Amino acid sequence: MQVVILPSSESIGDYAADVILRGVAERPSTGHMNTGHMNYVLGVATGSSPLPIYEALERRWVPELAAISAFALDEYVGLPYSHPESYHSVIDREVTTRLRLDPSKVHVPDGFADDPVAACLAYETAIQDAGGIDLQILGIGGSGHIGFNEPTSSFSSRTRIKTLTPETRRDNARFFSSPDEVPLHCMTQGLGTILDARKVLLVATGEKKAAAVARAVEGPLTSMCPGSALQLHPDATVLLDEAAAAELTLTDYYRFVFDNRPEWQR
Ligand code: GLP
Repeated sequence: MQVVILPSSESIGDYAADVILRGVAERPSTGHMNTGHMNYVLGVATGSSPLPIYEALERRWVPELAAISAFALDEYVGLPYSHPESYHSVIDREVTTRLRLDPSKVHVPDGFADDPVAACLAYETAIQDAGGIDLQILGIGGSGHIGFNEPTSSFSSRTRIKTLTPETRRDNARFFSSPDEVPLHCMTQGLGTILDARKVLLVATGEKKAAAVARAVEGPLTSMCPGSALQLHPDATVLLDEAAAAELTLTDYYRFVFDNRPEWQR
């Protein structure tokens, strides 16, 4: 993994926006080698960590952004789409509207489907049909989860129903009027689905994330820290502020690598 430590969440947003805008600009000339699909496909995440990325993309909006497709990582099960905290609503507010995307090209797992198992399969198929995800944005939960892949998630899992841990439900209670209102179940892209993205950008800020970040980046590969699965990804970058980087041990080396990165990586 490439670890990049930046001074603020604004600079993290700008750094990520650079990478995304570069990818979008390159797409028309390269296309997908195997499928011929031309649209850039962005994997989007909810939570507060990625918000500076969407803000930066909104500020630096270019018409090419309107043509991209987007796939969200996860959704609560049983929350109506119109609930303000359903990820359908959050993605609509924070991503589709800000980036002026075509709503018909923005996909969120269907946690309100009559047949959730079929909906999970259909989500995997839709990602494949779009040509796969070019860049997946990720946050990380205190439990080390990415998407809603809670500890013990299989590294080869695909989109499926999971039960949220009490810790995640407590963390997310801030978005609901009472902790009991937080759904018990969710639908999430699997770790295998996430590992299939061509590029991954994980964003974490603040001291509350320091332990999970250290386990994901420098700890052993373990389903007890689902974020550690990213060590298997060939092109994963972790964007951190100083507080989120505080428990890493190779910080000096990460800074050295970043300061001496070759011209083509800048
Ligand atoms: C939720 C989301 C995750 C996100 C996590 C952390 O559980 N399903 O995708 O990474 O929250 O959120 P935050 O960035 O607000 O700390």
